[in-house]
This record gives sequence, structure tokens and C-alpha cells, in this order.
Amino acid sequence: MASAHQLKALLKSHMAGDDEQFLAVAMQVAAHEAKQGHGKLALELRELIEQAKQGHLRSKKPTPLAQPKGELGELLTARYPQLRLNDLVLPEDTKDRLVRLIKEHRQSQKIRAYGLVPRRKVLLLGPPGTGKTMTSSVLTGELGLPLFIVRLDGLMTKYLGETAAKLRIVFQAIDRTRGVYLFDEFDSIGAKRGFGNDVGEIRRVLNSFLQLIELDNSDSLLIAATNHAELLDRALLRRFDDVIEYALPDAAQVAAVIKAKVSAFPTSRIVWNKVCEVAEGLSHGDIASACEDAVKHAIIHDKARLSQRNLTDALVERRRADNRRIEAGD
Ligand SMILES: Nc1ncnc2c1ncn2[C@@H]1O[C@H](COP(=O)(O)OP(=O)(O)OP(=O)(O)O)[C@@H](O)[C@H]1O
Ligand SMILES: [Mg+2]
Repeated sequence: MASAHQLKALLKSHMAGDDEQFLAVAMQVAAHEAKQGHGKLALELRELIEQAKQGHLRSKKPTPLAQPKGELGELLTARYPQLRLNDLVLPEDTKDRLVRLIKEHRQSQKIRAYGLVPRRKVLLLGPPGTGKTMTSSVLTGELGLPLFIVRLDGLMTKYLGETAAKLRIVFQAIDRTRGVYLFDEFDSIGAKRGFGNDVGEIRRVLNSFLQLIELDNSDSLLIAATNHAELLDRALLRRFDDVIEYALPDAAQVAAVIKAKVSAFPTSRIVWNKVCEVAEGLSHGDIASACEDAVKHAIIHDKARLSQRNLTDALVERRRADNRRIEAGD
């Protein structure tokens, strides 16, 4: 029989509409049954999973809303994530600020009726893999809105010379189509005026962004994210209703990320303190990826349980990869 953990993971992925995760957990249940000597049941489960993969579930997926077309299609990518606040592991005060944002946005009409403006422009700062992009997905999921990702680095390199005009098109879309708009890699636009090679053009782009964000009075939510806070022009900070800082996880958060990630797989005799020690200093993203590596390793080698060794090896490997990236100056 599937463990309570596995059932929980199945239900969670079902509720999130995450078919891939649902099938991955089902595969783990099949592997577990095989290990227990329940070969017939394991085979039946695997056949059912194969059938599901061959289109049964895919055909039931809701048709996604259209992607932006034409010129706008080159500037924005639409996504429809279903993540919720509970999926995020963050300090309480950061979560509180996100909750306040969600509440103000949900009640925006009421707030506007009193002549006030809900929080709508947020700047997320912090190191890679700490949940900035994920936060945009969570806000999208909580508010039931589409997520539009504006790739500023692409916008700046591909269209340098016409970037200001392209930005105006993006802000028109923000006004017309309510959604969460993520300006990722924001430092490429928000770098201090006078910083960079093409000084004149960058300054023009930044100035027009400052004007556009000031004029914007839409019902959309604007999120800018960067891991280079030190590069940002100070004039920008005042334009945001909220500036939220992200950091590497503390010990409690490390444990929470690991436990959430391996909950679908049976664990045994794991000394959590030791595992968390190995994970210290890694980002949420690195830890999540290491956990996935460990679970995959257990699946491939038909292990019934996830061992301490598996988990620590995967974490150590991530740390080495991280160090190599740092040494290479990436
Ligand atoms: N706070 C978090 N809670 C739970 N999982 C997280 C968190 N942060 C990151 N993750 C995991 O790491 C992955 C990558 O995180 P995310 O893309 O949000 O990082 P980021 O801060 O946007 O990094 P970058 O600066 O490189 O864009 C997520 O998809 C998730 O699996
Ligand atoms: Mg990101």
C-alpha cells in the first residue's frame, strides 16, 4: 500500500494540477510495491501510468489562454502557474508582506472606492535560487491571474535603440490585460544612470521606465526582480510600493525545503540535523535540485527508501557545482 506520505503527495499534485508530479509520485508508489514483492500490483500500476502518459491526462488539461501575439509576443511570455503561498519557504515577515499584497490586490476595487491605491509595484532583491521568480508564480496562483514574463535582458540587447518604444507597448498591455507582469533580470534596465557601455541609450530606457511606472494606474501587479541590488539606480526604489529582500535559507528553512521535496518518497533513519548541516549555505533552489537528484537516484536504483547517504551526496555535489560557478566568476 502507498504510504500516507505518498498519498499526501498524490493529492497535493492533483490539487495543483501538476500532472507530471502526479505521475512521478505514482511511479514511486509502483517502485515501492515492486520492492515489497508485490510484482503484479507494481506492473498494473506502471501500465496505468503509461496509459496516462499517452495522452489521457494531457487531453483533460484545460486549454491554456492564448500567448501574446505579434510584436507583443516577442516581448512577453505568458504562463499560468498554479503555485500557492504554502509552497514557498520564506521567513514569516516576508510571507506576511506577500499576504498583505495579495489581500490588497483582491480588495483593490474596495480600496480604490475610498480614493486609495492598492500595493501593485513590487521589487524583489536577493541571491539566485531564493524564490523571486517562484514568488511571482505564487502571486499569480493566489490571485488567479496570468503571469507575463518580460525578458528585459533580451529586450535590451535585441532592440537596443528601440527599447523605450517597446517598453511603452509592454505598459499598454499591462493597462489592457490584467495580470502579474514580471520584469526579470531587472538590473539590465535599472542599472545606475551612467553605468554600462551605451550610456545614452541605457539612460533613455531607464528614464522612460521611470515615467511609465509612475503613470501606470492599471489593475495589474508589477514585479521587478534582480540579484544585483547594488547596481540599481536609487531613483527606482522610490517608485515601488514594496521592496522585499530575499536571502539564503536559515536552518529551519533548509529543513522545510528538504522535507517538502522528499515528502513523496519514504525516508528512513535520516538524521535531519546532519543533512541540514550539509545543506547550510546553499540556496533554496540548489537544495530543491539536490533533493530531486537524490530521489531520482533512489528511483533508478530501485531503492525502497531514501537514505541519508543519498541525500548528503547530492547536496555535496550541488555545493561543488556552486563553488565551480563562483570560481569561474559566473
Ligand atoms: N523560497 C523558496 N521556497 C521553496 N522553494 C524554493 C524557494 N526558492 C527557490 N525554490 C526552489 O528553487 C527553484 C528556483 O527558484 P527561483 O527561480 O524562484 O529563484 P530566483 O530567486 O528567481 O533565482 P534567480 O535570481 O536566479 O532568478 C524554484 O522553482 C523552487 O523549486
Ligand atoms: Mg528568477
